[in-house]
Amino acid sequence: MLQIEVKDVYKSFKDVQAVRGVSLAIQPGEFVALLGPNGAGKTTMVEMMEGLRKPDSGEILIQGKNWKKHERELRKIIGLSLQETRFAEKLSIRETLRLFAGFFDLGNERVNEVIALTGLESKQKSYVGTLSGGQRQRLALAVALLNTPQVLFLDEPTTGLDPHSRLDLWNILRLLKEKGNTTLILTTHYMEEAESLCDHIIIMDEGKILREGKLEDLLDEESHNLDELFINLTGKTLSEVPTLIP
Ligand SMILES: Nc1ncnc2c1ncn2[C@@H]1O[C@H](COP(=O)(O)OP(=O)(O)OP(=O)(O)O)[C@@H](O)[C@H]1O
Ligand SMILES: [Mg+2]
Repeated sequence: MLQIEVKDVYKSFKDVQAVRGVSLAIQPGEFVALLGPNGAGKTTMVEMMEGLRKPDSGEILIQGKNWKKHERELRKIIGLSLQETRFAEKLSIRETLRLFAGFFDLGNERVNEVIALTGLESKQKSYVGTLSGGQRQRLALAVALLNTPQVLFLDEPTTGLDPHSRLDLWNILRLLKEKGNTTLILTTHYMEEAESLCDHIIIMDEGKILREGKLEDLLDEESHNLDELFINLTGKTLSEVPTLIP
């Protein structure tokens, strides 16, 4: 069975057509990258798959189930971190994780596990307000992993991180991939992130999928890498975020 199936989904905000007829089929265990420039519709698309927004039309199924009838079951099997997730500044990492663990009826043991998984042992007593960007992103990932999700959604998990912190996060996700029990959908502006982590790459712009497939199937004589492919498809560059390396 498909892990996620999206059928001809549309979503508008007043006069903005954010998503215009997206269909997708995602297999269990796939790591999927949703790439596209600012405003492409990535967050809108992911939030609909997460059951946080309702499509205007079309259908979204996770393990064959829709959000309307099966919200309780689906909440148990998905994990998510929103674009720029914010937690309470005056709680420590451990307190934050215990709070979220409580929502899933999980105990201290699982809190310890996700702290270890995300390499936050030495920081577990620090207040969220004192954490660096990379540490905050790792906490967001730790929260998303608490319920051992079968389907994990991460909206720009490494945006704004320095190259070293980005690599750290990729390594955590690689370990998850090796275990093979998780399907991951991540959005990103970084080609290397898609190339090095993901089996299935989806390029979006203006609410539509322009191209999707395995990296090697997307490239040809005209497009030697994802940057070139994107420019060739749209005439635009993919990343409009400032570069981090001077
Ligand atoms: N709540 C909202 N109200 C009105 N317009 C919205 C809302 N959310 C998104 N939009 C619009 O929908 C379009 C798609 O936005 P979305 O956030 O999905 O893009 P994105 O691909 O995630 O961009 P980014 O890379 O900047 O995160 C944009 O034009 C945006 O302005
Ligand atoms: Mg977004």
